[in-house]
Amino acid sequence: MSHLLPLSRVAKLVAQPRHALQEMIRNGTLATFDGMVELDELLRAFPEVKWDDDAEFRRVTEIKDKAFAKRVLERALPDKEVLAARLTELGNDYAAARALLLHYGSVMTWLDEKIEEIDEDASPETHHALHTVRAFLLRNLAEVPPDAEQAQAAIVQERILKIMSAHVTIQPSGHEFFVEGNDTLLEAALRNGVSLNYGCSNGNCGECKARVLAGEVKKVHAHDYVLKDAEKDAGVILLCAYAPVNDVVIEANVAGARDIPVQNLTARVKSVEVFNPQVAALHLLAPRSQRLRYLGGQRIDVSIDGMRGRYAIASCPCEDRHIEVQIPRRPGDAFAEAVFSRLHANDTVDVEGPYGEFVLDEDSPRPVIFLAFGAGFAPIKSLIQHAMSLELAESMDLHWLADAAGHYQDNLCRAWTDALDNFNYVPHAQSDDLDRVLAAIVTDYPDLHRFDVYAAGTAAQLERARAHFVGQGLPEVRWFAGATDA
Ligand code: FES
Repeated sequence: MSHLLPLSRVAKLVAQPRHALQEMIRNGTLATFDGMVELDELLRAFPEVKWDDDAEFRRVTEIKDKAFAKRVLERALPDKEVLAARLTELGNDYAAARALLLHYGSVMTWLDEKIEEIDEDASPETHHALHTVRAFLLRNLAEVPPDAEQAQAAIVQERILKIMSAHVTIQPSGHEFFVEGNDTLLEAALRNGVSLNYGCSNGNCGECKARVLAGEVKKVHAHDYVLKDAEKDAGVILLCAYAPVNDVVIEANVAGARDIPVQNLTARVKSVEVFNPQVAALHLLAPRSQRLRYLGGQRIDVSIDGMRGRYAIASCPCEDRHIEVQIPRRPGDAFAEAVFSRLHANDTVDVEGPYGEFVLDEDSPRPVIFLAFGAGFAPIKSLIQHAMSLELAESMDLHWLADAAGHYQDNLCRAWTDALDNFNYVPHAQSDDLDRVLAAIVTDYPDLHRFDVYAAGTAAQLERARAHFVGQGLPEVRWFAGATDA
């Protein structure tokens, strides 16, 4: 009996991003069957994976080691009812496999008896043929396949993954993610950068209603919002109150920039990070009961004591309550002056937003070039992190054209390059000859028609860059621009 694994689970098992596996499928180095990978194929295609040295094993060991740290344990393990349901399912799988083996055993015994029966009156030729068949069967049953240990270890890994996490597919968008620990479906979606509809996030408003199309879910938080009987019969649940027991398919709307309403909230200052006299990052924490819904690349208004400014968000929507905005110190910007001179941790600021449609095209699998002019790095940083959380692009190249403030998060960009196989960072020093720099960049891409380009800078910088990229073959519709001075 073959053991088939979904691609997303294979990606977890071999610690590779999904797009790397898709590339292997395209170039014929990994075979799939109806989108699934056979265990034998997995062992063949990844001979270097040490199945008994997997991160998931280490994680389980860590959890065991920290068994007395109750909070860690509570967060890392699934809800107890979900855990019980997953273990029951695993027990059922085991029972079914055992029943099948017992059945095969009886078939073999019957076959052996039948051979013996026929052999009694058999001619010497038939006797020889029966003897050969019997010897073949006995030899093969006794022989342990050479990769049996590997296969067993890989199956154990996969089973642990199935207990610790469940795979979710959102329809019709096709987004995929894993729910780990005691996260609800909504928490896991947001952690993975998938912008599902929601409101209160605690079971009151009903805005996170969605329909379960396949798989099993369990209620893990009580909710005041009352689902109608007809809704329950149709498989409708509240994403903020349910967790998956096994791999599930959910019908839910993924919000685009126009679907997310403008929100007002008061956030606490976590810290002010002054990169240099020209740029600072303001790290904010949204209230637990009112997180800010936004997409990577959008902007918010931030105000304190009547001083107000609109700034690019530099954080990822997957970062839970954390919001980062980067503040360039421009003459006459009173809010920026307040950030540099008198804002401290635990102060509160008012936040309104999000605004803007400079967001990722999540339907595009094309390789991406990010182009940041000076402080245009902020929305680009948000987009890059969002794309990483969604495992969106085949490859990502970042070109950062510095202004007087320099490459103030150069280390972060280099860390991305070190951590990701498909990320490439090219810093460009400040230059008076912008056209020369842009011409050199586009020359490096003779196949620009394959790319998406996201650029952030002043309207004048963007217009010049657009002319170079489109002139060199980038389709006009694959140019996405976010003006920092709009
Ligand atoms: S977000 Fe309000 S009920 Fe789920």
